[in-house]
Amino acid sequence: METVLVTGGAGYVGSPLISYLLDTGYRVVVIDKLSFGGESLVHVWGRKNFAFIRGDICSPDFLSQVFDRYPIDHVVHLAAIVGDPACEKQPELARKVNYEASLMLLDIAIDRKIDRFIFASTCSNYGKMSDPDRYVDESSPLAPVSLYAELKVHVEDVILNRLARNGKFCPVCLRFSTVYGISPRMRFDLTVNEFTKDLSLGRELLVYGEQFWRPYCHVQDFSRAIRLALTSAEDKVAFNVYNVGSTAENYRKSMIIEEIEKLIPNAKVRYVAKEEDPRDYRVSFEKIASDLGFNISKRVPDGIREIKKLIDDRVLKDPDESRYRNI
Ligand SMILES: NC(=O)c1ccc[n+]([C@@H]2O[C@H](COP(=O)([O-])OP(=O)(O)OC[C@H]3O[C@@H](n4cnc5c(N)ncnc54)[C@H](O)[C@@H]3O)[C@@H](O)[C@H]2O)c1
Repeated sequence: METVLVTGGAGYVGSPLISYLLDTGYRVVVIDKLSFGGESLVHVWGRKNFAFIRGDICSPDFLSQVFDRYPIDHVVHLAAIVGDPACEKQPELARKVNYEASLMLLDIAIDRKIDRFIFASTCSNYGKMSDPDRYVDESSPLAPVSLYAELKVHVEDVILNRLARNGKFCPVCLRFSTVYGISPRMRFDLTVNEFTKDLSLGRELLVYGEQFWRPYCHVQDFSRAIRLALTSAEDKVAFNVYNVGSTAENYRKSMIIEEIEKLIPNAKVRYVAKEEDPRDYRVSFEKIASDLGFNISKRVPDGIREIKKLIDDRVLKDPDESRYRNI
C-alpha cells in the first residue's frame, strides 16, 4: 500500500481528496495547520489508513519529523494562502508559505527519495488572453497579474526548469480551473458557490464584469485528476504540466447567472460595468484529456443544483460565517 502525504488536506480541495485516496487504496497522511478549523477531517477520522498531524509547513523541523515518522511515497502539495485577495492581504505570509515552504518541501521530497510530487497550481497563471478568439494552453505564455499567481508561476518554474532530472523523482504541476461544488470544508468565496448561495438566499447579487471568461471544474473532479497524476505512466507526467478542467466548461460570468436563473427565475441580479479585467482567459484542456484520458464527471449546472439544495435545506447553520471564506 502506498502512502500519500497531503499538505493542506483539511482544505476545500484536500478534504474530499483524502477520502477519495483512502477509498482507492492509499494510506493518507495529512498535515495542516487548520486555518479554517478541522471539521472537514471528521469524515475520515478513525479510518484505518488515515493519519493527521497538525503543524505548519513553514517549519523544517516539523516537515522532517513527518517524513521520519511515516514511509511516504508521494506528496500532494495543496497547503497555501489561497486566492488573490488573501495573498494581497498577507503578502509576506503568502511568500513564505506559497513559495519558500514549497521549495523547502521539494528539497525534502527529493532528499527523501519521494516518487510523485503533485503541485497544485492554477489557470490564473495565464492572466489575460492576448487573443480573445483563441484558447490558452500549456504552451501559452504566462502573465500572472496577482501575487497569488506570481508565486505559483515561480514554483512551477523551479519544478519544470530548474531541478536535476535524475533518479525516480517525478514532479507534476496541475493548473486547476476555478473550482466549485460541495466539500467537507465549504468555500463561498468562489464564483459558482457564492453566486448560487446569494441568489438562493433571495439576495440581490452584484456582478462585476459579466463578459469575462474563466474555466470552472468541480472539486470532486480535482480529486480524480490528482489520482491520475499519481498513477499515469511516469514518462508522460514527469516534469510535466497539465491544465485541469474541460474545454466545454469555460464560462462568462453572465453564463453562470443564466444557469442559476433556470432554477431561480426571479433572481435579482445587477450587472456592474467593468471594461477591463486582467484575468480573462479561455483555456484548452485537450492535453490532460488526450495524454491522461481525463474527463470531467460534473458540469457547472450540476454544481449549481447541489449548492442550491444545500442552502435551501439549511444544511449549514450560517453560510455567511467567515470560516467559509479565505478572506
Ligand atoms: N480553489 C480553487 O479554485 C483553486 C484553483 C486553483 C488552484 N487551487 C490550489 O489548490 C490548493 C488548495 O486550495 P483550497 O481551495 O483547498 O484552499 P483552502 O484554503 O481551502 O485550503 C488550504 C489549506 O492549507 C492549510 N494551510 C495553509 N497554510 C498552511 C501552512 N503554513 N501549514 C500547514 N497548512 C497550511 C489551511 O489550513 C487549509 O486547510 C491551493 O494550493 C490552491 O492554490 C485552488
